Amino acid sequence: MPVPLLDLRAQHATIRDEVVAAMTEVVESQSFILGPLVEKLEREVAALSHTAYAVGCASGTDALLLALRVLDCGKGDEVITTPFTFFATAGTIHNVGATPVFVDIDADTFNILPEAAAAARTSRSKACVPVDLFGQMAPIERVMTALPGLPIIEDAAQTIGARRSIDGEWRMAGEIATIGTFSFFPSKNLGGYGDGGMMVTQDEGLATRLKRLRMHGGAKQYFHDEVGFNSRLDSLQAAVLSAKLPHLAGWSAKRRTNAAYYSDAFADLDGVRVPVIDPANESIFNQYTLRVERRDDLQSFLEERGIGSAVYYPLPLHLQPCFAYLGYTKGSCPESERAAGEVLSLPIYPELTKAQLDEVVDSVRAFYGR
Ligand SMILES: Cc1ncc(COP(=O)(O)O)c(C=O)c1O
Repeated sequence: MPVPLLDLRAQHATIRDEVVAAMTEVVESQSFILGPLVEKLEREVAALSHTAYAVGCASGTDALLLALRVLDCGKGDEVITTPFTFFATAGTIHNVGATPVFVDIDADTFNILPEAAAAARTSRSKACVPVDLFGQMAPIERVMTALPGLPIIEDAAQTIGARRSIDGEWRMAGEIATIGTFSFFPSKNLGGYGDGGMMVTQDEGLATRLKRLRMHGGAKQYFHDEVGFNSRLDSLQAAVLSAKLPHLAGWSAKRRTNAAYYSDAFADLDGVRVPVIDPANESIFNQYTLRVERRDDLQSFLEERGIGSAVYYPLPLHLQPCFAYLGYTKGSCPESERAAGEVLSLPIYPELTKAQLDEVVDSVRAFYGR
Protein backbone atom coordinates (compact mmCIF):
# COMPACT_ATOMS: atom_id res chain seq x y z
CA MET A 1 0.00 0.00 0.00
CA PRO A 2 1.54 3.34 -0.99
CA VAL A 3 2.04 5.83 1.81
CA PRO A 4 3.08 9.26 0.54
CA LEU A 5 5.15 11.52 2.75
CA LEU A 6 2.30 14.02 2.67
CA ASP A 7 -1.17 13.78 1.14
CA LEU A 8 -2.67 17.25 0.81
CA ARG A 9 -5.51 15.91 -1.34
CA ALA A 10 -6.66 13.74 1.56
CA GLN A 11 -6.84 16.85 3.75
CA HIS A 12 -8.55 18.96 1.11
CA ALA A 13 -11.24 16.29 0.76
CA THR A 14 -12.20 16.81 4.41
CA ILE A 15 -12.59 20.61 4.12
CA ARG A 16 -13.45 21.10 0.45
CA ASP A 17 -16.82 22.80 1.02
CA GLU A 18 -15.55 25.33 3.57
CA VAL A 19 -12.44 26.21 1.60
CA VAL A 20 -14.11 26.46 -1.79
CA ALA A 21 -16.89 28.65 -0.34
CA ALA A 22 -14.30 30.95 1.23
CA MET A 23 -12.33 31.16 -2.01
CA THR A 24 -15.47 31.80 -4.06
CA GLU A 25 -16.34 34.73 -1.83
CA VAL A 26 -12.98 36.31 -2.55
CA VAL A 27 -13.30 35.70 -6.28
CA GLU A 28 -16.75 37.29 -6.30
CA SER A 29 -15.46 40.31 -4.33
CA GLN A 30 -12.55 40.75 -6.78
CA SER A 31 -10.52 42.14 -3.87
CA PHE A 32 -7.28 40.20 -3.78
CA ILE A 33 -4.49 41.99 -1.94
CA LEU A 34 -4.45 42.44 1.87
CA GLY A 35 -7.87 43.82 2.93
CA PRO A 36 -10.35 42.70 5.60
CA LEU A 37 -9.72 38.97 5.19
CA VAL A 38 -6.01 39.41 5.81
CA GLU A 39 -6.78 41.58 8.83
CA LYS A 40 -9.14 38.88 10.12
CA LEU A 41 -6.44 36.22 9.78
CA GLU A 42 -3.94 38.53 11.48
CA ARG A 43 -6.29 38.87 14.45
CA GLU A 44 -6.80 35.09 14.55
CA VAL A 45 -3.08 34.27 14.41
CA ALA A 46 -2.29 36.93 17.03
CA ALA A 47 -4.91 35.36 19.32
CA LEU A 48 -3.52 31.87 18.75
CA SER A 49 0.02 33.08 19.42
CA HIS A 50 -0.90 35.20 22.48
CA THR A 51 0.60 38.26 20.79
CA ALA A 52 -0.70 41.79 20.47
CA TYR A 53 0.08 42.06 16.76
CA ALA A 54 0.36 39.92 13.64
CA VAL A 55 1.39 41.13 10.20
CA GLY A 56 0.84 39.02 7.10
CA CYS A 57 3.36 38.83 4.29
CA ALA A 58 4.13 36.80 1.18
CA SER A 59 6.03 33.84 2.69
CA GLY A 60 7.88 32.50 5.71
CA THR A 61 11.09 33.57 4.01
CA ASP A 62 9.83 37.13 3.70
CA ALA A 63 8.67 37.06 7.31
CA LEU A 64 12.31 36.43 8.31
CA LEU A 65 13.58 39.04 5.87
CA LEU A 66 11.18 41.70 7.12
CA ALA A 67 11.91 40.81 10.75
CA LEU A 68 15.64 41.18 10.17
CA ARG A 69 15.10 44.48 8.37
CA VAL A 70 12.83 45.92 11.06
CA LEU A 71 15.55 45.15 13.62
CA ASP A 72 17.99 47.03 11.36
CA CYS A 73 20.21 44.00 10.76
CA GLY A 74 22.53 44.83 7.88
CA LYS A 75 26.10 45.29 6.74
CA GLY A 76 28.66 44.71 9.49
CA ASP A 77 26.16 42.98 11.77
CA GLU A 78 26.25 39.37 12.89
CA VAL A 79 23.16 37.25 13.38
CA ILE A 80 23.47 34.04 15.39
CA THR A 81 21.54 30.98 14.22
CA THR A 82 21.88 27.23 13.66
CA PRO A 83 22.98 25.48 10.47
CA PHE A 84 20.54 22.57 10.79
CA THR A 85 17.48 24.27 9.30
CA PHE A 86 15.83 25.17 6.04
CA PHE A 87 17.97 27.44 3.89
CA ALA A 88 15.75 30.52 4.35
CA THR A 89 16.87 30.97 7.96
CA ALA A 90 20.39 31.90 6.91
CA GLY A 91 19.69 33.00 3.33
CA THR A 92 17.67 35.94 4.64
CA ILE A 93 20.47 36.95 7.04
CA HIS A 94 22.83 37.05 4.07
CA ASN A 95 20.28 38.90 1.95
CA VAL A 96 19.92 41.79 4.41
CA GLY A 97 23.70 42.15 4.21
CA ALA A 98 24.47 40.69 7.63
CA THR A 99 26.74 37.75 8.46
CA PRO A 100 25.23 34.45 9.62
CA VAL A 101 27.05 33.06 12.67
CA PHE A 102 26.33 29.35 13.00
CA VAL A 103 26.22 27.61 16.37
CA ASP A 104 25.54 23.96 16.98
CA ILE A 105 22.34 22.20 17.98
CA ASP A 106 21.21 19.99 20.80
CA ALA A 107 21.60 16.36 19.72
CA ASP A 108 18.16 15.40 21.08
CA THR A 109 15.88 18.19 19.85
CA PHE A 110 17.91 19.57 16.90
CA ASN A 111 17.31 23.04 18.33
CA ILE A 112 19.83 25.73 19.22
CA LEU A 113 22.10 25.35 22.25
CA PRO A 114 21.67 28.53 24.31
CA GLU A 115 25.19 28.27 25.73
CA ALA A 116 26.66 28.00 22.22
CA ALA A 117 24.68 31.08 21.20
CA ALA A 118 26.04 32.96 24.22
CA ALA A 119 29.60 31.93 23.37
CA ALA A 120 29.18 33.22 19.81
CA ARG A 121 28.05 36.69 20.88
CA THR A 122 30.34 39.57 19.95
CA SER A 123 30.04 43.35 19.89
CA ARG A 124 28.71 42.98 16.33
CA SER A 125 25.87 40.58 17.26
CA LYS A 126 22.61 42.26 16.26
CA ALA A 127 20.08 39.46 16.70
CA CYS A 128 19.65 35.72 17.20
CA VAL A 129 17.36 33.50 15.13
CA PRO A 130 16.54 30.30 17.03
CA VAL A 131 14.61 27.85 14.86
CA ASP A 132 11.71 25.78 16.22
CA LEU A 133 12.59 22.68 14.24
CA PHE A 134 10.16 19.99 13.11
CA GLY A 135 7.33 21.28 15.31
CA GLN A 136 8.85 21.76 18.76
CA MET A 137 9.90 25.09 20.17
CA ALA A 138 13.51 25.95 20.82
CA PRO A 139 14.23 26.83 24.47
CA ILE A 140 13.41 30.46 23.72
CA GLU A 141 13.50 31.65 27.33
CA ARG A 142 16.94 30.10 27.83
CA VAL A 143 18.19 31.73 24.62
CA MET A 144 16.88 35.08 25.87
CA THR A 145 18.59 34.62 29.23
CA ALA A 146 21.83 33.57 27.54
CA LEU A 147 21.76 36.65 25.29
CA PRO A 148 20.49 39.46 27.50
CA GLY A 149 19.25 42.45 25.54
CA LEU A 150 19.73 40.85 22.12
CA PRO A 151 16.61 40.84 19.91
CA ILE A 152 15.32 37.34 19.18
CA ILE A 153 13.59 36.35 15.93
CA GLU A 154 11.94 32.98 16.50
CA ASP A 155 11.79 31.10 13.20
CA ALA A 156 8.53 29.30 13.91
CA ALA A 157 7.87 28.45 10.24
CA GLN A 158 7.31 24.80 11.20
CA THR A 159 5.70 25.36 14.56
CA ILE A 160 2.51 27.44 14.52
CA GLY A 161 0.38 26.54 17.53
CA ALA A 162 3.17 24.68 19.35
CA ARG A 163 3.67 25.57 22.99
CA ARG A 164 6.21 25.36 25.76
CA SER A 165 5.77 25.41 29.50
CA ILE A 166 7.84 28.27 30.91
CA ASP A 167 7.72 28.94 34.67
CA GLY A 168 4.56 26.85 34.85
CA GLU A 169 2.71 28.70 32.06
CA TRP A 170 2.08 27.65 28.47
CA ARG A 171 3.77 30.03 26.04
CA MET A 172 2.98 29.80 22.37
CA ALA A 173 5.44 29.71 19.47
CA GLY A 174 6.20 33.34 18.68
CA GLU A 175 4.85 34.68 21.97
CA ILE A 176 7.92 35.72 23.93
CA ALA A 177 10.46 36.39 21.19
CA THR A 178 10.95 39.92 19.88
CA ILE A 179 9.35 38.73 16.64
CA GLY A 180 8.03 35.29 15.70
CA THR A 181 7.76 34.26 12.07
CA PHE A 182 5.41 31.73 10.47
CA SER A 183 5.21 30.09 7.07
CA PHE A 184 1.97 29.03 5.40
CA PHE A 185 3.76 26.93 2.78
CA PRO A 186 1.29 24.15 1.83
CA SER A 187 3.20 21.42 3.71
CA LYS A 188 3.06 23.26 7.02
CA ASN A 189 0.49 22.25 9.67
CA LEU A 190 -1.43 25.39 8.68
CA GLY A 191 -0.72 25.50 4.96
CA GLY A 192 -2.20 27.81 2.38
CA TYR A 193 -3.07 27.01 -1.22
CA GLY A 194 0.08 28.83 -2.28
CA ASP A 195 2.70 30.89 -0.46
CA GLY A 196 2.10 33.00 2.63
CA GLY A 197 3.73 34.07 5.87
CA MET A 198 3.18 36.09 9.02
CA MET A 199 5.12 37.89 11.74
CA VAL A 200 3.90 38.21 15.32
CA THR A 201 5.11 40.57 18.03
CA GLN A 202 4.07 42.25 21.27
CA ASP A 203 5.68 45.53 20.15
CA GLU A 204 3.42 48.11 18.54
CA GLY A 205 6.29 50.08 17.03
CA LEU A 206 7.71 46.99 15.33
CA ALA A 207 4.27 45.97 14.03
CA THR A 208 3.65 49.41 12.57
CA ARG A 209 7.00 49.46 10.81
CA LEU A 210 6.57 45.86 9.57
CA LYS A 211 3.29 46.93 7.93
CA ARG A 212 5.14 49.71 6.16
CA LEU A 213 8.04 47.51 5.14
CA ARG A 214 5.76 44.95 3.46
CA MET A 215 4.33 47.79 1.30
CA HIS A 216 7.49 49.38 -0.10
CA GLY A 217 8.17 51.24 3.15
CA GLY A 218 5.35 53.75 2.93
CA ALA A 219 2.56 54.32 5.44
CA LYS A 220 0.70 56.35 2.84
CA GLN A 221 0.48 55.32 -0.80
CA TYR A 222 3.19 56.90 -2.97
CA PHE A 223 5.00 58.39 0.05
CA HIS A 224 7.97 56.39 1.32
CA ASP A 225 9.64 56.78 4.70
CA GLU A 226 12.13 54.06 3.86
CA VAL A 227 12.73 51.50 1.13
CA GLY A 228 10.75 48.35 1.82
CA PHE A 229 9.54 45.36 -0.15
CA ASN A 230 6.50 44.12 -1.99
CA SER A 231 5.53 41.33 0.37
CA ARG A 232 1.79 41.16 0.87
CA LEU A 233 -0.44 38.29 1.83
CA ASP A 234 -3.29 37.91 -0.61
CA SER A 235 -6.94 37.60 0.33
CA LEU A 236 -7.36 34.18 -1.28
CA GLN A 237 -4.66 32.73 0.97
CA ALA A 238 -6.11 34.50 4.00
CA ALA A 239 -9.57 33.09 3.23
CA VAL A 240 -8.19 29.55 2.91
CA LEU A 241 -6.10 29.88 6.06
CA SER A 242 -8.99 31.26 8.14
CA ALA A 243 -11.13 28.35 6.96
CA LYS A 244 -8.40 25.88 7.94
CA LEU A 245 -7.39 27.49 11.24
CA PRO A 246 -10.23 25.98 13.36
CA HIS A 247 -8.94 22.54 12.34
CA LEU A 248 -5.31 23.20 13.24
CA ALA A 249 -5.42 22.05 16.87
CA GLY A 250 -7.16 18.79 15.90
CA TRP A 251 -4.75 18.11 13.07
CA SER A 252 -1.73 18.73 15.29
CA ALA A 253 -3.20 16.47 18.00
CA LYS A 254 -3.64 13.71 15.40
CA ARG A 255 -0.02 14.14 14.38
CA ARG A 256 0.99 13.71 18.04
CA THR A 257 -1.10 10.53 18.21
CA ASN A 258 0.57 9.20 15.05
CA ALA A 259 3.98 10.11 16.46
CA ALA A 260 3.26 8.24 19.69
CA TYR A 261 2.14 5.20 17.67
CA TYR A 262 5.38 5.13 15.69
CA SER A 263 7.57 5.81 18.70
CA ASP A 264 5.99 2.90 20.60
CA ALA A 265 6.40 0.63 17.63
CA PHE A 266 10.06 1.53 17.09
CA ALA A 267 11.07 1.61 20.76
CA ASP A 268 12.82 -1.78 20.70
CA LEU A 269 14.66 -1.32 17.40
CA ASP A 270 18.44 -1.18 17.58
CA GLY A 271 19.76 1.42 15.19
CA VAL A 272 16.66 3.60 15.38
CA ARG A 273 16.29 6.61 17.65
CA VAL A 274 12.80 8.06 17.87
CA PRO A 275 12.24 11.84 18.15
CA VAL A 276 13.00 13.34 21.54
CA ILE A 277 10.56 15.99 22.68
CA ASP A 278 11.76 18.32 25.43
CA PRO A 279 9.45 17.59 28.40
CA ALA A 280 8.57 21.31 28.52
CA ASN A 281 7.29 21.21 24.94
CA GLU A 282 4.11 20.22 23.19
CA SER A 283 5.19 19.55 19.62
CA ILE A 284 2.95 19.93 16.59
CA PHE A 285 5.07 17.35 14.70
CA ASN A 286 5.38 19.16 11.42
CA GLN A 287 7.86 16.35 10.86
CA TYR A 288 8.40 13.00 12.55
CA THR A 289 12.14 12.58 12.28
CA LEU A 290 14.08 9.47 13.24
CA ARG A 291 17.82 9.17 13.63
CA VAL A 292 18.83 5.88 12.10
CA GLU A 293 21.74 3.69 11.12
CA ARG A 294 22.10 2.98 7.38
CA ARG A 295 19.78 5.88 6.62
CA ASP A 296 20.17 5.97 2.84
CA ASP A 297 19.56 2.22 2.54
CA LEU A 298 16.45 2.51 4.71
CA GLN A 299 15.16 5.32 2.52
CA SER A 300 15.67 3.23 -0.65
CA PHE A 301 13.99 0.24 0.99
CA LEU A 302 10.97 2.37 1.92
CA GLU A 303 10.83 3.87 -1.55
CA GLU A 304 10.70 0.38 -3.10
CA ARG A 305 7.68 -0.29 -0.92
CA GLY A 306 5.97 2.94 -1.99
CA ILE A 307 6.59 4.72 1.30
CA GLY A 308 7.60 8.35 1.13
CA SER A 309 10.31 9.74 3.37
CA ALA A 310 12.64 12.74 3.27
CA VAL A 311 15.97 13.92 4.59
CA TYR A 312 15.58 17.29 6.28
CA TYR A 313 18.40 18.39 5.93
CA PRO A 314 21.22 16.60 4.10
CA LEU A 315 23.87 19.35 4.21
CA PRO A 316 24.05 21.78 7.14
CA LEU A 317 24.11 25.41 6.10
CA HIS A 318 27.63 26.14 7.37
CA LEU A 319 28.94 23.66 4.77
CA GLN A 320 26.85 24.92 1.83
CA PRO A 321 29.01 26.12 -1.07
CA CYS A 322 27.33 29.55 -1.02
CA PHE A 323 28.55 30.10 2.54
CA ALA A 324 32.14 28.95 1.92
CA TYR A 325 33.14 32.62 2.28
CA LEU A 326 32.29 32.37 5.98
CA GLY A 327 35.16 29.94 6.52
CA TYR A 328 33.43 27.09 8.35
CA THR A 329 34.84 23.61 7.86
CA LYS A 330 33.75 20.07 8.62
CA GLY A 331 33.72 19.70 12.38
CA SER A 332 32.65 23.32 13.02
CA CYS A 333 29.16 22.17 14.11
CA PRO A 334 29.56 18.44 14.77
CA GLU A 335 26.04 17.70 16.04
CA SER A 336 24.48 19.36 13.01
CA GLU A 337 26.76 17.36 10.73
CA ARG A 338 25.96 14.10 12.51
CA ALA A 339 22.25 14.82 12.34
CA ALA A 340 22.46 15.53 8.61
CA GLY A 341 23.85 12.02 8.08
CA GLU A 342 21.29 10.22 10.24
CA VAL A 343 17.87 11.88 10.00
CA LEU A 344 14.90 10.51 8.11
CA SER A 345 11.40 11.98 8.27
CA LEU A 346 8.43 9.63 7.87
CA PRO A 347 4.80 10.30 6.87
CA ILE A 348 3.03 11.86 9.87
CA TYR A 349 0.11 13.80 8.37
CA PRO A 350 -3.19 13.65 10.26
CA GLU A 351 -5.18 11.79 7.60
CA LEU A 352 -2.95 8.69 7.73
CA THR A 353 -5.02 5.56 8.28
CA LYS A 354 -4.15 2.87 10.80
CA ALA A 355 -3.33 0.56 7.87
CA GLN A 356 -0.93 3.14 6.46
CA LEU A 357 0.75 3.67 9.84
CA ASP A 358 1.15 -0.10 10.15
CA GLU A 359 2.60 -0.33 6.66
CA VAL A 360 5.27 2.21 7.64
CA VAL A 361 5.93 0.45 10.96
CA ASP A 362 6.18 -3.00 9.35
CA SER A 363 8.49 -1.73 6.64
CA VAL A 364 10.90 0.00 9.02
CA ARG A 365 10.90 -3.09 11.25
CA ALA A 366 11.45 -5.38 8.26
CA PHE A 367 14.47 -3.32 7.20
CA TYR A 368 16.07 -3.79 10.60
CA GLY A 369 15.17 -7.51 10.55
CA ARG A 370 12.51 -7.34 13.31
C1 LIG B 1 12.56 26.64 9.35
C2 LIG B 1 12.01 27.36 8.14
N1 LIG B 1 12.26 28.66 8.00
C3 LIG B 1 11.77 29.36 6.96
C4 LIG B 1 11.00 28.77 5.98
C5 LIG B 1 10.55 29.55 4.82
O1 LIG B 1 9.17 29.57 4.61
P1 LIG B 1 8.54 29.75 3.16
O2 LIG B 1 8.76 28.49 2.40
O3 LIG B 1 7.11 30.04 3.43
O4 LIG B 1 9.22 30.91 2.51
C6 LIG B 1 10.69 27.41 6.10
C7 LIG B 1 9.84 26.75 5.09
O5 LIG B 1 10.05 25.69 4.63
C8 LIG B 1 11.22 26.68 7.20
O6 LIG B 1 10.97 25.38 7.35
